[in-house]
Amino acid sequence: MAAPAIEKLSLEEIPPPPAGTIFIDDLTGADDESAGTSATYPLKSAAFALHIFPDAPAYYLRRQSDSPFEPITASALKKAKKGAEGLAKRAKAAEELKLKKHADEAKRLEEASKIVIKPDPSLPVPKRIKIRAGTTTRETRVVIQGWVHRLRLQKGLVFLVLRDGTGFLQCVLSGDLANAYSTVTLTLESTVTIYGVIHSLPEGKSAPGNHEMAVDYYEIVGLAPGGDDAISNKVQESADPSILFDLRHLVLRGETMTGIFKVRAALLRSFRRVYEELGILEVTPPCMVQTQVEGGSTLFTFKYYGEDAYLTQSSQLYLETCLPALGDVFCVQESFRAERSHTRRHLSEYTHVEAELAFLTFEDLLSHIENFITRTIQYVLEDEEIAGIVEKLNPNFVPPKLPFRRMTYESALEWLNEHGIPNEEGEKFKFGDDIAEAAERKMTDELNEPILLTRFPVEIKSFYMKKCADDPRVTESVDVLMPNVGEIVGGSMRIYDLEELMKGYKREGIDPEPYYWFNDQRIYGTCPHGGYGLGTERILAWLCDRFTVRDCSLYPRFTGRCKP
Ligand code: 4AD
Repeated sequence: MAAPAIEKLSLEEIPPPPAGTIFIDDLTGADDESAGTSATYPLKSAAFALHIFPDAPAYYLRRQSDSPFEPITASALKKAKKGAEGLAKRAKAAEELKLKKHADEAKRLEEASKIVIKPDPSLPVPKRIKIRAGTTTRETRVVIQGWVHRLRLQKGLVFLVLRDGTGFLQCVLSGDLANAYSTVTLTLESTVTIYGVIHSLPEGKSAPGNHEMAVDYYEIVGLAPGGDDAISNKVQESADPSILFDLRHLVLRGETMTGIFKVRAALLRSFRRVYEELGILEVTPPCMVQTQVEGGSTLFTFKYYGEDAYLTQSSQLYLETCLPALGDVFCVQESFRAERSHTRRHLSEYTHVEAELAFLTFEDLLSHIENFITRTIQYVLEDEEIAGIVEKLNPNFVPPKLPFRRMTYESALEWLNEHGIPNEEGEKFKFGDDIAEAAERKMTDELNEPILLTRFPVEIKSFYMKKCADDPRVTESVDVLMPNVGEIVGGSMRIYDLEELMKGYKREGIDPEPYYWFNDQRIYGTCPHGGYGLGTERILAWLCDRFTVRDCSLYPRFTGRCKP
């Protein structure tokens, strides 16, 4: 220890700190190995200073941030020396512990590498199953392939939760299987082929499916990385959303996401089941089109062999042309909208469920829509596995009941004005105003039940919508609004008179020529008809209680995001 100790000095007596001085400030300093060598970044304690820099030429200390650094006093130096000795002892013990841990780990791995795991040829030939079939194949030897979803290593016992897309299965490895090198170095998301017998669980224990597999052998198919690249380090819930969207392919493996996409599949199954029961036929219209449906401002354009073309906004016009050929039709098709708004319910690409029905009235259409929604949800929840997922994601979900509340656009404006909810200009709503997302959501959340909002003004709706016979200012149009999400369905009766349709084009500034095939619908046997479009991600966000529709799309596309 080189620095000479000095007793307390007056201000004038403080000598300038020599080169190599260590600075200490117990108020603003930090005991960090990179600090101490300058007055700007002092250390916090003298003990740490002596521990890290035992041979410094001088130690300068200050007790208040506005007083100067002065040489350490003899008594403080003595105390610091003692403290430094303690720190050295602790550091040594920690180092020894670390070395021991390394040695133990090396020994464990060395021992583990001596263990050879082999299949036992005397065991019965296993039956190859998916996890879903586990309940019906208990007590027989089975083989399952999947991904390591969770892993817990205990002394002599390993609990591995396997995932294969059809479910989760707890697998228990014991004896050599638990201690083998491949097991102690196994990582999450590795793929394995695993052999054993599934037994039901004893009372008081819990695991997926109420059973677990006693493993007798396994093989690794693909070892996933550990350390910094381990999935648990790459995908963290607290990460920036844009990082999570970049890593969507890995995020999808989480239980919330897999749950949502199972519900989504059940929803699509149920849509089709209801349509099948109603005798409505599925068709597949094109995505590449040369006509608009819902306004030019949200069209995605591209060059199609030198001509201008768009990605479809809605398959409605094509569905209308199918009516004379196939009767009532539906489709499940991607729609594309170059939405400028960055909201939690707008995607640039979404799965659009659309139906078109011939020879019906507006009232028939409204009752079809409410029935279609309630029956679809009923079928979704009839599946026990799916009902369990919905319960987990949205414990307060109440299936909708018939009939839905009916509300006209004009009475919605009255409601909004009575409740002090302003229009986009911050003023009272007046006839002709669009009910923007925020106002619509406030009203829907407040009423807290499905709403059929009808009779929107001609000017704020599309060119093809039929006017109401009793009031030509408004259309036979409907939006279905759901709490937390707002609009999930948009539909209407269609103009089926050619002349009136021509007026609609004119009003919207659309050239009718490219629509010749749509117009022919009104020439070759016209009929009253109507239909609607439902946003799959929106109804899913409502059903699974997601804050944003982005959670409900496999690889969501929205402003600025078209990858992965
Ligand atoms: O109200 P929209 O624009 O109606 C139509 O496209 C009609 N041509 C449909 C028809 O009658 N066949 O859209 C229908 C539904 C909306 O209620 C909403 O659920 C969904 O499609 N939708 C969107 N979903 C996600 N992102 C977007 N950008 C959406 N735009 C509409």
